[in-house]
Amino acid sequence: MERTLLIIKPDAVQRGLIGKVISRFEEKGLKIAGLKLMKLVREKAEELYAPHKGKPFFEPTVNFMTSSPLVAMVLEGRMAINLVRTIIGATRPEEGSPGTIRGDFSTSVQLNIVHASDSIENAERELAIFFDKNEILDYSIISEIWNGNKMEAGVRT
Ligand code: PPS
Repeated sequence: MERTLLIIKPDAVQRGLIGKVISRFEEKGLKIAGLKLMKLVREKAEELYAPHKGKPFFEPTVNFMTSSPLVAMVLEGRMAINLVRTIIGATRPEEGSPGTIRGDFSTSVQLNIVHASDSIENAERELAIFFDKNEILDYSIISEIWNGNKMEAGVRT
């Protein structure tokens, strides 16, 4: 099982899209292992976007991400990092396929509704920025148990 960071960005919170975005992941069967509404402080935004430091959009992105509340989530599941990236779609709105979160809702490369970790290394780094270890909960959901039982019975899906 993998864990990944998903952020519902300030534009989506302002537009009343929190519920719709969360539903996409719940409906796919991903487990929510952590969840918080927060106003991001500047140092944490700079840490999140550290790989982009020096690019022209770095400062505007940090300003945007600290301008208004966002939702940070820990999503858990089989191949969660790639799966979540597929569900959110491409960074740029003109490239996001219909049916993906960004394809359906994003309005610009900055106001693109969500952020998700793009690798195992970045997921570990980014989760640590937003969540203490005791804020990430270990529990089972029924679909996980069903999938586990099927695999034990030799049925691969
Ligand atoms: S790139 O072009 O490869 O550096 O882009 P990417 O790694 O996919 O993500 C860039 C993140 O910065 C945010 N952002 C912008 N990117 C490119 N151009 C402009 N003007 C820009 N403004 C903001 C973009 O939303 C990506 O944020 P995340 O949180 O990863 O979606």
